[in-house]
Amino acid sequence: MQEQQLYPVSASSGQEALIDQRQYRAMYQLSIEQPVRFWAEQANCIDWIKPFSEVRDCSFDRQDLHIDWFRDGYLNVTANCLDRHLVAMGDKTALIWEADDPDESHRQISYRELYNDVCRCANGLLELGVSKGDIVTIYLPLLPETVVSMLACARIGAVHCVVFGGFSAEALADRIEDSQSRWVITADHSLRAGQQIGLKGNVDAALGRCAGNCVEKVVVVRRSGAAVAWHPQRDIWFSDLLAGQAEHCAPAVMAAEDPLFVLYTAGSANRPRGLVHSCGGYLVYAAITHRYVFDCQPDDIYWCTADIGWITGHSYVVYGPLANGASTLLHEGVPGYPDISRWSQLIDKYKVSIFYTVPTVIRSLMVHGNAAIRGTDRSSLRLLGSVGEPINPEAWQWFYRVFGRGRCPVIDTWWQAETGGIMIAPLPGATALKPGSATLPFFGVEPALFDGAGNRVEGEGEGYLVIRGSWPGQARSILGDPGGFYEAYFSQCPGYYFTGDGARRDADGYYWLSGRVDEVINVAGHRLSSSEIEKALVTHRSVLEAAVVAYPHAIKGQGLYVFVTLCADQAADEHCRQDLVEWLRLQIGGIATPDVIQWAPSLPKTLSGELVRRVLRKIAYDDCDHLGDISNLADPDVLQHLIANRVRPSPGV
Ligand code: WTA
Repeated sequence: MQEQQLYPVSASSGQEALIDQRQYRAMYQLSIEQPVRFWAEQANCIDWIKPFSEVRDCSFDRQDLHIDWFRDGYLNVTANCLDRHLVAMGDKTALIWEADDPDESHRQISYRELYNDVCRCANGLLELGVSKGDIVTIYLPLLPETVVSMLACARIGAVHCVVFGGFSAEALADRIEDSQSRWVITADHSLRAGQQIGLKGNVDAALGRCAGNCVEKVVVVRRSGAAVAWHPQRDIWFSDLLAGQAEHCAPAVMAAEDPLFVLYTAGSANRPRGLVHSCGGYLVYAAITHRYVFDCQPDDIYWCTADIGWITGHSYVVYGPLANGASTLLHEGVPGYPDISRWSQLIDKYKVSIFYTVPTVIRSLMVHGNAAIRGTDRSSLRLLGSVGEPINPEAWQWFYRVFGRGRCPVIDTWWQAETGGIMIAPLPGATALKPGSATLPFFGVEPALFDGAGNRVEGEGEGYLVIRGSWPGQARSILGDPGGFYEAYFSQCPGYYFTGDGARRDADGYYWLSGRVDEVINVAGHRLSSSEIEKALVTHRSVLEAAVVAYPHAIKGQGLYVFVTLCADQAADEHCRQDLVEWLRLQIGGIATPDVIQWAPSLPKTLSGELVRRVLRKIAYDDCDHLGDISNLADPDVLQHLIANRVRPSPGV
């Protein structure tokens, strides 16, 4: 059926692809059989201040967990993203920035201008006392200053920790506290769909509640120009920090394994994990995946729509494209503002040739049919990409046939914050496509499947997706919790990295990702943790207990279905429902807005008191006839009430 729909490799754009099928096979084989040789060659895609002699030294053993790539090599990431491009293409556009409001003028920033701004910002940070190894929190929307701030940290060896601008003050405070960051870079406001969101206000609120708050300086980008509260001792305008700074700043000499950034991501536990990524291995991996998977060539105008607050923004808005000298577009706003064809218009306006987005966006455009593409021809496109959640074949077909006019391959890329870069994806010149499948592994990546009994599945079959051995882009640790790093990723299948995803492998060896097998929920391509949302709910005075699961949502992929047991004196009414919705927005952010709240007099638990989410998931999926084994429930009768009062969510369209 689906598998028979095969789209052979086509000469998509009249350009010759970097890698054809024969080369893919040969390079993949080499990468698995002789990884040291393969990676030693690939690592030449970046400039090393001092070349490495050791390629890798990795062990996933509990006693000896370590992941080292190119260990004795030295480099600076910004020297690779900026300096080395200056001679041949200093005037080439590095960033194109389009504002939320289409009437506001856009900005084009050349590699030389970006270099100058990064150096000025880096000198400013040095003046504030930031030095090598220090963690700087960046809480900004999609602005050129966001890229400048990240690169300025990397210039001087500081470690950036970008927090998505859609997170609330509470969520920001948790991350600042966990990382012990002493500097925050933010903006007065962010602008989205004509709305102002008070980022500086959120920083003030976050710092007000951080225990042992150690933030010394808050640097503020002026975006809206509207008034904000000001603490003269602590706050400084970004423009004042850069004013008068020299346009040169020597790049810090970094060991390959020095950290480049920390990025918080949702896991199974009730607090986010600060994943640590390296300078050398991460940059090599981001650069080569960007080049080969998107077939990125010198004349391309490349647009990855991700926010910089997520891993996709790090690897494929900032580091991959800049390391490869690409021209990359940033759009401050949202897809449907001021009208649903905005993103199609931007593709025509800037002649975008590579467009990389999430299935949620594709589905939200698709429901508007032709309105989403009205008045545009998108003839500049030559490649389409998808990431963040499984892409359903209907959305794939619409993206391919209507949006891309049947001319551009759809490159479905599977990867994670932990993997640093793309792991499973077609290469446009090498891989025949099947709608809904991320297809085949990238160079050096050896996926495997395990069944529930811990046996490796060979050939066709399905199971937990794991990866054998390491690859350079792999996260190195969890900040402050190396033991948790082992438990989260290496304890399940000894010797393998455990992804937390389920997958099927078909007869052609293609992978079909089915979604998370743990407590992570993927709403509109944003990763959320059930336990984190449950923890936020039980801190509300009216809530005794809560359980959060996902259910299928037509646009967002998954929606949040929340079961709440209220305290005895709290009425289960609409007012309380609104109150809880607002509470989650304040505790976590708009992305954690529940779609459904069902009142539950009690929740299904085992005899030892453990919540049985599996059964709740079945109820949320409206699959009550297949609850599975419920013999371990302390009180199976609680299910009757939950099933009888199941809420039918709106289909989401
Ligand atoms: C899911 C985003 C199916 C998956 C890069 C993974 C996908 C989680 C795909 C990671 C895809 C990402 N097909 N599922 N092409 N890409 N996912 O860390 O469940 O924000 O584990 O990284 O998104 O989300 P994260």
